[in-house]
Amino acid sequence: MNLRMSTPSDPTLAPGEARCPGPSTADIIGPEADHPPAALTEQSYQFLGDKDLPFSRYTSKGFFDAEIDKLWSRTWQWACREEHLPRPGDWFVYDVGPYSAMLIRTQDHSIRAFVNSCPHRGMQFFDAGTCGSGKQFFRCPFHGMSWNLDGSLREIPCRWDFPHIKDEAFGLTALPCETWEGFVFINFDPHAGSLNDYLGVLPRHFDQFAYPLRDRYVWLHMKKTLPGNWKMCMEGFLEAYHVLATHPEGLRTAGDANAQYDFWGDHVNRFVHTVGYPSPHLPKQLTEEELFASLGHDPQSLPAGKGARQAHADLQREAMGRQLGVDLSMVSNSQMLDSIEYYLFPNACFFPGIGIPLIYRFRPIDVDHCIHEILMLRPNPADGSTPPPKEVIELDMDTSYKTVPAFAATGLAHVLDQDTENFFRQRAGMKAARKQGQTLGNYQEARIRHVHQTLDKYLNS
Ligand code: FES
Ligand SMILES: [Fe+2]
Repeated sequence: MNLRMSTPSDPTLAPGEARCPGPSTADIIGPEADHPPAALTEQSYQFLGDKDLPFSRYTSKGFFDAEIDKLWSRTWQWACREEHLPRPGDWFVYDVGPYSAMLIRTQDHSIRAFVNSCPHRGMQFFDAGTCGSGKQFFRCPFHGMSWNLDGSLREIPCRWDFPHIKDEAFGLTALPCETWEGFVFINFDPHAGSLNDYLGVLPRHFDQFAYPLRDRYVWLHMKKTLPGNWKMCMEGFLEAYHVLATHPEGLRTAGDANAQYDFWGDHVNRFVHTVGYPSPHLPKQLTEEELFASLGHDPQSLPAGKGARQAHADLQREAMGRQLGVDLSMVSNSQMLDSIEYYLFPNACFFPGIGIPLIYRFRPIDVDHCIHEILMLRPNPADGSTPPPKEVIELDMDTSYKTVPAFAATGLAHVLDQDTENFFRQRAGMKAARKQGQTLGNYQEARIRHVHQTLDKYLNS
């Protein structure tokens, strides 16, 4: 393409105005004949500042503790999918830091959440990370006090010894619990505002995509411990700037430096980077046949007059539609191919794409380690059934994603391995640094700054 990628930006531009030379994501997606959802070409960027972000935000135990106190205790976080709790009596535990919630499907089929701690002497009802079914009431394993699934007191052994307890004041502590797109969210703050307010533009945007997440099922679920602070690791997935050096084999088929970045309100940001379109970093323009070959097809088979991205999307619609047993003919090229990642503060990413249908969730373990979960959601079969969610596959820090055959088959395992390998070095480098903080790009790394600005609002209030 021969774009001058290392030329300094035009000094007459205001900070944040400079963009990659050549076509933008909107230039590529907007004119496509299949009319992508309006949400995809909506743009919402503003300059957020360019000061260095202190490394101590990732390395300080004090900062970590402040996040536990003021962030994790009062933000909406998805705990599980509705299909993890299909029948009355099904339960699921969600933990972050010291906080623990138990979710239950009740007899009236609603989902409730309670603090996983016995009102008597604090025993946990369930261990961290567990789930099960068939619960008719909650019975504490320590002394056997029990509560109904609606949280009301059921029985106290030796009731005569507790004349000071009033039944109605001795229920389980309920937590706010709401659903969106098949995800069950909880908030550890009993006085939290509504989930809908918190989600901002997400419902409006996700209503525009074919095969909404509520009509999908958990086809794959992996959980891996990562060597780094939860924000450091998560932020490795919020920008496409690193594709050039970390995933160079993707340059022939992925728009990286021309990706689009947006944020809305405090809690939502997004990138859209194209797949099936070459990187602006390539030293010379690919022919459509070369691009088609790079996308894994016989270049001779590119239909006359059709672009490689369009032809690739058509083939993907047909092949994946057949494989999944659903009709993908109305899915736009962009939703079919591109990496479309919406982030919800503090710890979740939702991809509405069909070809890249990822869900990420990050949770802290300690200041230097976190849990990264990756789910892939596939459209429910055409018969309307919801297949049961797949069991979690646990991977330790040194185990490759390639050991999970289903994930390896998607072609993403190698990419995620490259990402996770970076974290060992970045964590070490952040600790070794004698420069006080990291210096972010104004546009491509603006989502990271957006996360930190919102984080500061929680820490300072
Ligand atoms: S701690 Fe739960 S019944 Fe005693
Ligand atoms: Fe990456």
